Amino acid sequence: TEHIIYTKGQLHIEACSIESIAAKVNTPFYCYSKAQLLSNIHRCQTAFQPHSIDIHYAMKANSNLSILRLIADQGLGVDLVSSGELLRAQAAGIPEKSMIFSGVGKTAAEFTLAIHAGVGQFNVESVEELEMLATLATQHARPINAALRVNPDVAVDTHKNITTGSKGNKFGITIEQALSLYQRYADHPWIKLNGLAMHIGSQIQSVAPYSQAIDKLMALTAKLEEAGFSINSLDLGGGFGVDYGDGAHLDLSSVAQDIARSTAGFKGRIIVEPGRSLVANAGVLVSRITYIKEAQPNPFLILDAAMNDLMRPALYQASHPIVSTDTNNDSAMRHYDIVGPICESTDTFTRNYPLSKSLKAGELVAFLCTGAYGAVMSSAYNSRSILPELLVSGTEMQVIRKEITQAQLIEYEQ
Ligand code: LLP
Repeated sequence: TEHIIYTKGQLHIEACSIESIAAKVNTPFYCYSKAQLLSNIHRCQTAFQPHSIDIHYAMKANSNLSILRLIADQGLGVDLVSSGELLRAQAAGIPEKSMIFSGVGKTAAEFTLAIHAGVGQFNVESVEELEMLATLATQHARPINAALRVNPDVAVDTHKNITTGSKGNKFGITIEQALSLYQRYADHPWIKLNGLAMHIGSQIQSVAPYSQAIDKLMALTAKLEEAGFSINSLDLGGGFGVDYGDGAHLDLSSVAQDIARSTAGFKGRIIVEPGRSLVANAGVLVSRITYIKEAQPNPFLILDAAMNDLMRPALYQASHPIVSTDTNNDSAMRHYDIVGPICESTDTFTRNYPLSKSLKAGELVAFLCTGAYGAVMSSAYNSRSILPELLVSGTEMQVIRKEITQAQLIEYEQ
């Protein structure tokens, strides 16, 4: 990446060396580059804006308030999935009309909060949910913009745990159900069904599944329009894959061009909901080596970071590049099994991983490309504290979420 780089053998986030940051903040911690974030946002805007495609950041990827404020400053809307995310988006100053509320299980309390807040669009995922939304809209006498999320049933080449647009996934309704739902709500005084939505999965590497799914959505749009309904918006979701070290990723400009081509002739708003692609490569997880335990076939690099801090490897067998923050003595390499201290075998980040032979306990390593689905998925398992998040801009470093300490966690209990 442009802003997370080695200078004189030392890994830097912009102008701050990781070494100098770790001298001030205890490891493990997440650290983000503001310039990298802004550059990602601009690259996304450059790709989508020429085609008048609106960007709603899927804030689940990283919902730290300081990150959200940067997103808000750049004029992006958000895709949110819980009342907690709604409160956060409001706290970050994102206008309610620029919010889209997604999710399969929005509760009556969450709907009520969002209705009163004036959330711009509700993506509805089932008949049952639409009934609940209609009841509440009537009760509170508020007009509601709703889009139906359909499951286009396309095959997506990503980890099975993160596909969402195939048969058997809990998300959306079938394409066949859409017309009858539109008909049922045609004359509803408060619910205005006027859009379609989809989200086919995450970390997708090619445009093909998008094209296939959009074709199905366009055919449905034509069918609904023929039946007299006007479709004002198509929300195509996110899922654009990033490079986790093997070079494979989805180029945003090619997706944008493909979307423009596949939706040609559609007069309404087109929306995308990127999460990962805006934040992933702007963040690193920094950890200190506690021990190097000699073993066969490989020594274990036992870190002070664990699966509770970064769940992706344990949950999805995800791999993140792991690097030494000081490469000055890197000559010969050695293969390590890299693990955390948690009492579970899944607390293994990777096996047989080449790093410098001269690594020593007490030295630092960094997990790259952990700005998305990193800190947000952390937990306090094994009664570990919830690690802090930092933001670097040039020579400045700021703590944007303090560590949630073990003592604080205990205070919540009887
Ligand atoms: N829109 C909706 C409705 C979504 O459910 C998601 C992600 C997105 C947008 C954003 O997708 P993205 O652009 O970030 O791929 N924790 C997993 C990823 C789960 C994604 C869930 N939905 C991981 O760490 O890989």
